[in-house]
Amino acid sequence: MLTNQEQQEILRRRTFAIISHPDAGKTTLTEKLLLYGGAIHVAGAVKSNKIRKTATSDWMEIEKQRGISVATSVMGFDYRPTFHNEKRESGAENTKADDTVYHINILDTPGHQDFAEDTFRTLTAVDSAIVVIDAAKGVETQTRRLMEVCRMRKTPVMVFINKMDREGKDPFDLLDEVERELGIHVRPLSWPINQGQRFKGVYNIYQSTLDLYQPDKTHVTESIRFDDVTDPQIAALVGDKDAEKLQEDLEMIEGVYNPFSEADYLAGELAPVFFGSALNTFGVKELLECFVHIAPSPRPVQAEEREVSPMEDKFTGFCFKIHANMDPNHRSCIAFFKICSGKFVRNTYYKHVRKDQQMRFAAPTCFMAQRKETVDEAYAGDIIGLPDTGNFKIGDTLTSGENLHFKGLPSFSPEMFKYIENADPMKQKQLDKGVAQLMDEGVAQLFTSQLNGRKIIGTVGQLQFEVIQYRLEHEYQAKCRWQPLQMYKACWIESDDAAELDTFKKRKAQYMATDKDGRDVFMADSAYVLQMAQNDYKHITFHFTSEF
Ligand code: G4P
Repeated sequence: MLTNQEQQEILRRRTFAIISHPDAGKTTLTEKLLLYGGAIHVAGAVKSNKIRKTATSDWMEIEKQRGISVATSVMGFDYRPTFHNEKRESGAENTKADDTVYHINILDTPGHQDFAEDTFRTLTAVDSAIVVIDAAKGVETQTRRLMEVCRMRKTPVMVFINKMDREGKDPFDLLDEVERELGIHVRPLSWPINQGQRFKGVYNIYQSTLDLYQPDKTHVTESIRFDDVTDPQIAALVGDKDAEKLQEDLEMIEGVYNPFSEADYLAGELAPVFFGSALNTFGVKELLECFVHIAPSPRPVQAEEREVSPMEDKFTGFCFKIHANMDPNHRSCIAFFKICSGKFVRNTYYKHVRKDQQMRFAAPTCFMAQRKETVDEAYAGDIIGLPDTGNFKIGDTLTSGENLHFKGLPSFSPEMFKYIENADPMKQKQLDKGVAQLMDEGVAQLFTSQLNGRKIIGTVGQLQFEVIQYRLEHEYQAKCRWQPLQMYKACWIESDDAAELDTFKKRKAQYMATDKDGRDVFMADSAYVLQMAQNDYKHITFHFTSEF
């Protein structure tokens, strides 16, 4: 049994990712959350990990990206909310005391869309997510794709509509767009008073307070509390016209949207929406305070064998990310583990389930703000970094002894494909080893054509091919060459009808390949070929992710 104190440690954890289309303001918001948490003291301390569009073949940029992303992979800090306490002091009723100091773990996701798969995997390690949307651009492609993963996993999400200090879309239109494009119900919990040049502030529906906007300041002015939006003081502060408009808008919100339901949010069906400007530190505190109260503490995780509850006393965890060391002379990596249950203790033996081997770790690290420190213990919800010399693959499980396999680390159908060839016949072994390790790290996916045995690499974007080639050369002293391959999609196939599956595989032999686990993959070279196959073979299911 976990002690009461250990249970409290787990309950106070909030592990989440901030996701957005590049440039919506993810880095800026992360930084402001760290500022509020007291984890950093100056703005500008968090480096954007994105590779600028113009620099796709700039190796320094890629190296920088890898270096920065290990430093900022996880940012942990403690936060004590002020809201309930302020309310209590002011004598407000119906406020529960909350003296909890929350432990927040923000998982960073790569900014560049070619690393989308990395982001998808990071989403398997979080208990909730904050989606940042640019008020002028609305929902963009990358947001849509990331949200699909959240929906698939029923991850609770909050939406932060950023850049309200600029002219953008109408807030009601934005809410409709989010609802329509992201396929989730929304409920505004804060509401902007104008935007752009005329942006005056945000009315906090969740807390019934008004924050007035001061464009040149990096701090929010005192928030002013109202029990009623018709309070004449609001008009005195923002002007009659805006006060009237705010009242109308709030009436409309009450009329159109159902009251906020925490249960629907936790079920991943309803997204509370906040408005603000991360750059101006505006609306961020509201988001954070609401977040710590309603966002889930570590959630149960589904393993193939059973559901694992965070409160179990036995430790379990899975590896969702491997970060290779940038120093090519030391082939050591950091394997990032999400703790699913119990408590992890340094120098204790745990079972590496795939290898059926006991291992212990003398120098596990945790991540506090931007520092990496050795930890003696860590709890469910935490992310720990384990120094690794090639023992771990993405998806590996560590336990106190039980044979568990965690589900939910799907590979997605890649979008670009190339044949990989050895460009230096003397270095075949190095190439094979390098390719195998990069695939274990999840850099890209490897398929083997059944027609000619050639190796095919599938990626999300061109940049990954460049990274693979570069890293093979620098870390494994191997040289590769790419051969173009016309390909539309790779689908994992399965069927209960063994005879039909067999016929299909024979007839489509030229399109068949196996993935790294030996599973059958149909490589359609055009949408038409895929469509025809789907029409002709009704008993075969074509999956676009490897998890089904
Ligand atoms: P990302 O991580 O989602 O890619 O976005 P990031 O935070 O890097 O923000 C992208 C750009 O948007 C940055 O400008 C940032 O300063 C700006 N930005 C973020 N939040 C706001 C906001 O609330 N209002 C306004 N007006 N701008 C905002 P940049 O010029 O690309 O970068 P920088 O040179 O300022 O760092």
